[in-house]
Amino acid sequence: MASGSVQLIRPARNVSGSLRLPGDKSISHRYAMLGAIAEGPTRLKNFSTGADCASTLGCLGTLGVGWDRNDDEIVIRGEGPTLRAPASPLDCGNSGSTMRMLSGILAGQSFSSELLGDTSLSRRPMARIIEPLEQMGARISSAEGNRPPLRITGGALAAIHYPMPVASAQVKSSLLFAGLFARGETSVEEPVRTRDHGELALRAFGAELHRQGNQAHIAGGQQLRAIEASIPGDISSAAFFLCAAALFPRSNLTITDLLMNPTRARLLDILLAMGARISVAQLEEHHGELVGTVEIEGGTVKGATVAGSDTAALIDEIPVLAAIAPYTSTGVEIRDARELRVKESDRIAAVARNLRKMGARVEELEDGLKIPGGQDLHGAEIDSEGDHRIAMAFAVAALRAKGETLIHGAEAAVISYPGFFEALEGVVAR
Ligand code: S3P
Repeated sequence: MASGSVQLIRPARNVSGSLRLPGDKSISHRYAMLGAIAEGPTRLKNFSTGADCASTLGCLGTLGVGWDRNDDEIVIRGEGPTLRAPASPLDCGNSGSTMRMLSGILAGQSFSSELLGDTSLSRRPMARIIEPLEQMGARISSAEGNRPPLRITGGALAAIHYPMPVASAQVKSSLLFAGLFARGETSVEEPVRTRDHGELALRAFGAELHRQGNQAHIAGGQQLRAIEASIPGDISSAAFFLCAAALFPRSNLTITDLLMNPTRARLLDILLAMGARISVAQLEEHHGELVGTVEIEGGTVKGATVAGSDTAALIDEIPVLAAIAPYTSTGVEIRDARELRVKESDRIAAVARNLRKMGARVEELEDGLKIPGGQDLHGAEIDSEGDHRIAMAFAVAALRAKGETLIHGAEAAVISYPGFFEALEGVVAR
């Protein structure tokens, strides 16, 4: 059982009210990294409050980038593409995004740096960035099995065309960032469409980048310009509230200033197909990212099958979809989700173990889960397994269970959303 804090969750009658969420984690990482190599001060409002994005800021500080946080704004004082050789290792904490995307920038620097992480990150696969960055000319050593820590010796890079064997937005961004430092035009081809924040952020910072089908192309040697932005609310954090609201007929929840990027908003399509009533208003575009207000009313929810490109689009939302699956009328099947086994935890196994503790029948597949619908769950002692999304997903499952649930290792939520449990309590009616 994970040590740390224990959170009590009692059953709810519905989930109603209004919320605005901290800035999207994926966008916060990218704006911070690009701000660091742009010319001039980048001003970011509603920056993610999560520990993962703090890891990115910490690493940038170690690389000589000045930044400060005042009120609701972070200012990153970019001084162009050349960073300072770090005097100590770069601590990426729990954040795979920090390690993989920053590696792309470090590959283009003329110094050596070491990136390390916590126990969970130290188990995660890095061959997916090591291979292409080495093809571009960086030298990278790693621990056994291509795991962290990584030691990167950067230098002159040459552009490559890289068909990615795994669908990963982190890898895509890492290579496009490296492409900025490379001679020639780098192109990255993805097997299925993944989130496009890297592409949009590069354009926002003034780079020319073009997409053609499943390929993104970027020419090296482009200078970035600082931006001012307010980061839209994190839709992967919103997923917990949306799924919670969907479970109760009398829920009525509004989330304002929410990221609506089509490569991230697939959960809304799935919840609609499952029978939730959802409306989107006040759509606006900021730096290429869509932002809007979402209102959801719950009810009886049908099940769903998530496979193929849907799985890639919903990769961070699958734990919560799976956690509410037993309450759907027809159950949920998740396929093509092998990647979930190499996230912050093995999320397929962690979901199956915790659902069983709540009395659910679950079939664990190598690449997913089959969870029958029409099940009643009871409160239980949940183990977050140190994974933020598992802690939060089971807080949602607990709202419709019979009896109380204890989430052990609840502090993991700080990785993406400190204050999650308080925000959830704020919209739960009992
Ligand atoms: C992310 C991409 C996803 C996701 C992660 C954040 C990003 O990972 O799971 O939480 O910001 O690009 P992969 O791209 O490795 O699938």
